[in-house]
Amino acid sequence: MDDLNDYTTRRTFAIISHPDAGKTTLTEKLLLFGGAIHLAGDVKAKGNRRRAHSDWMKIEQARGISVTTSVMTFEYEDVTFNLLDTPGHEDFSDDTYRTLTAVDSAVMVIDAAKGIEAQTRKLFEVCRLRDVPITTFVNKMDRETRDPFELMDEITEMLALDTCPMTWPVGQGRDFKGCYDLVNDQMILFEGTSKRGGIPDILPCQGVDDPKLAEVIGVELHAKLKEDIEMVRGIWPQFDLDSYRQGHLSPIYFGSALKDFGVKDLLDGLKEFAPVPRSQTAESREVKPDEGKVSGFVFKVQANMDPKHRDRVAFMRICSGTFKRGMKLLNTASNKTMTVASPIFFFSQGRELAESCVAGDIIGIPNHGTLRVGDTLSEGEDIMFTGIPDFAPEILRRVRLGDPMKAKHLQRALESLAEEGVTQVFRPMLGADWIVGVVGTLQLDVLKDRLLHEYNLEVDFENTQYITARWVSAQGENKHDDIRKFIEANRASLGEDRDKTPVYLARNAWDLDRAQQDYKEIKFSEVRERGR
Ligand code: G4P
Repeated sequence: MDDLNDYTTRRTFAIISHPDAGKTTLTEKLLLFGGAIHLAGDVKAKGNRRRAHSDWMKIEQARGISVTTSVMTFEYEDVTFNLLDTPGHEDFSDDTYRTLTAVDSAVMVIDAAKGIEAQTRKLFEVCRLRDVPITTFVNKMDRETRDPFELMDEITEMLALDTCPMTWPVGQGRDFKGCYDLVNDQMILFEGTSKRGGIPDILPCQGVDDPKLAEVIGVELHAKLKEDIEMVRGIWPQFDLDSYRQGHLSPIYFGSALKDFGVKDLLDGLKEFAPVPRSQTAESREVKPDEGKVSGFVFKVQANMDPKHRDRVAFMRICSGTFKRGMKLLNTASNKTMTVASPIFFFSQGRELAESCVAGDIIGIPNHGTLRVGDTLSEGEDIMFTGIPDFAPEILRRVRLGDPMKAKHLQRALESLAEEGVTQVFRPMLGADWIVGVVGTLQLDVLKDRLLHEYNLEVDFENTQYITARWVSAQGENKHDDIRKFIEANRASLGEDRDKTPVYLARNAWDLDRAQQDYKEIKFSEVRERGR
């Protein structure tokens, strides 16, 4: 890291997109421009090595989707980028949601032939909840595309988001000549840029009327460009940085990730405009990135990254202060202090010990189950960052164990997997079988596969009569009594989550509604914030 102690050099972001829009390709090209990797294909090669280590990724491979969340750090000029990968599949929405709590901005990749697709929209809505600024990359301009004006309108209308083109495409598909750079008044030529990681050829010009342009892109396309740019400048006023930073306006770049085109413009744009690490909300106060004391929160836990060791890595976003390796930090949820001796940075070339890091950085902390999603670590202050939720699962299944002698083993395995935050486990108050709760069915496949390969446990999932779960709590003066009475009367419909918090397992909507009517003093929550 160049400037270890200056958080303003950090840009922590995620890429959101519908599967197949080009997120993997763009990631790879960003890393290439960032000089983090030297050979195209490294992202995939690394993925394959990791797959060899982690069996559950076979599912990912077989289905051709990306289900894990990883962090990659790379440098470009004087800026350090932390890129958080979000799983593209809708089944993993709560994991994705938590990842998006750890970024300061996002890049939305859109396929130029398809426009806004279902998953793009969902992920965008998550970003909007937190006013995360979005930069848009309209990808695959080297193919037949939709009309750029139409695409711009679609983004504005479907997402209710103001837009502002930063570049404008000249031609498309086979006739794609490049983009007109609206900020610097120059033509970025597509020809000659197929060199991987190459710097595009620029044709400096005196505005869009410059006759040099016609020589290079042809008279016809030049006439169209002049017309387009006049319209563009009429429709979209100049880029408004404040509006972007507040999450109301998205700058739009056109390009082709596959052909390395437009990636540098995007990266330059992120470097210049993307926000530096923002303040984070804790229960008691806002925590500013330039505060002296270290604080951070865990947004993801990944277990068994190396099956030879039962290791577990907690991904923590640093929110303030300058963290130094070996520091003692307080886990405010458990009130225990831990020495962070081997924190890891995840560069695309591999892991490295993190000696020092600042707000916006993501470090991996190896641990044996002491750190959980939602935990806050601080240099002593009793703070708790908010907004890192669990969502009520919509699929609840009973776990049937192949070998009943392994019940204890199953308990440990389920608890451990639940701590990663990808699945939830409930123990019914009556009966001995475990119930797992997930948001989408794909998680069940992953769970089954991981139980078999990482824990040597053969399990099946059986349907239950439950349709959803609600966390149960009470607030009034007699809250303990209220809860106790509710539990006594409803034991058959109750379970406990891994924190021993009571959970109401609803058989149908009517059932839930009746419980809510009958027990007005009890709160039934669909979302639970992790932590205390
Ligand atoms: P994802 O992570 O968003 O799911 O998308 P990914 O990058 O894997 O890209 C999906 C497909 O689109 C890939 O083709 C990829 O090569 C292609 N692609 C990505 N960017 C561009 C682009 O700018 N132009 C064109 N023409 N194609 C692009 P594939 O055939 O499915 O995979 P592969 O065999 O090429 O790896």
